[in-house]
Amino acid sequence: MLIHSRDDGFLHPRSSEITPKGVYEGRRDMLRWMAGGVAGAAMASWAARDALAQAAAPGKLAPLAGAKSAVPGAQTMEKLTDYKDATSYNNFYEFGTDKGDPVKNAGTLKTRPWTVEVEGLVKKPGKYGIEDLLKLSAQEERIYRLRCVEGWSMVIPWVGYSLSELIKKVEPQGNAKYVEFLTLADPKTMPFVGSRVLDWPYAEGLRMDEAMHPLTLLTFGMYGEVLPNQNGAPVRIVVPWKYGFKSAKSIVKIRFVEKEPGTAWNKAAANEYGFYSNVNPNVDHPRWSQATERRIGDGGGLFAKRAKTQMFNGYEAQVGQLYAGMDLKKNY
Ligand code: MTE
Repeated sequence: MLIHSRDDGFLHPRSSEITPKGVYEGRRDMLRWMAGGVAGAAMASWAARDALAQAAAPGKLAPLAGAKSAVPGAQTMEKLTDYKDATSYNNFYEFGTDKGDPVKNAGTLKTRPWTVEVEGLVKKPGKYGIEDLLKLSAQEERIYRLRCVEGWSMVIPWVGYSLSELIKKVEPQGNAKYVEFLTLADPKTMPFVGSRVLDWPYAEGLRMDEAMHPLTLLTFGMYGEVLPNQNGAPVRIVVPWKYGFKSAKSIVKIRFVEKEPGTAWNKAAANEYGFYSNVNPNVDHPRWSQATERRIGDGGGLFAKRAKTQMFNGYEAQVGQLYAGMDLKKNY
């Protein structure tokens, strides 16, 4: 993010390295076809087994099962990122600014007891213990791409349920237009919270319709287990069509407000990180292009193959209408 020199360089892929649109669309058609039919079921389970064999968690954390989600866009045939990569190459600035810091330092994070406070413009504010929050709705597995603003991406099987389930329970008032997420900022267990990199606590926000969108996931686990600390235990959000920094980790407060809330990266550099931060290959970051991305785990470091970044990270069919008529260059 802001203080990093970009590890990806400014390389653009050769045209042969970009997945041709036809191939990609073919995969999507295949998925649709597989959604029905016996042959489809057999192939889907084969694909899932294959993907999990490559990516499996080591089984050191508590299992957290989720039924395969039927929410449109919540499954993909893409190869899963290896668990090891997804849990050792992280952004969690409370534990340090290097990608390897969170896995080294987040062992100090105390995830029990844990309470999430729901407050602001809702009819039913309250404090939810993490165990109650886990049980509030059925857990689902969703395979989402996470595209970081820095130019890398991962494909992760997350476990959780739509944030909308919680929002419906707390009954927002008519004037609640935005949802603000505040995360833990405990200098005793988070060594970098004292640093001046960001204005702590890490804060994020969504417009109400974005928060209510079924793809917005209140997330408790990944790879069939509870979240490792470095990935935002015990609860985070994942907003798959937005740059990764919108997906706030280790949430302690969800606040319903009337005005667009301030967010950590927007406060740090407003010209670089906007409130919306939808993945958009056509709107460059002021210091680098957003047209392509490097899939973590594909190897090759700086010279790794880069894939073409997709509008709304590939979720345009599901979320495009939320931004109809908006100038996405201004609302970056
Ligand atoms: N949440 C908190 N509390 N602190 C952070 O520094 N980093 C964000 C986001 N959520 C961050 C955070 C960024 S920049 C990214 S890319 C994603 O978490 C990374 O999530 P992952 O490490 O699970 O891949």
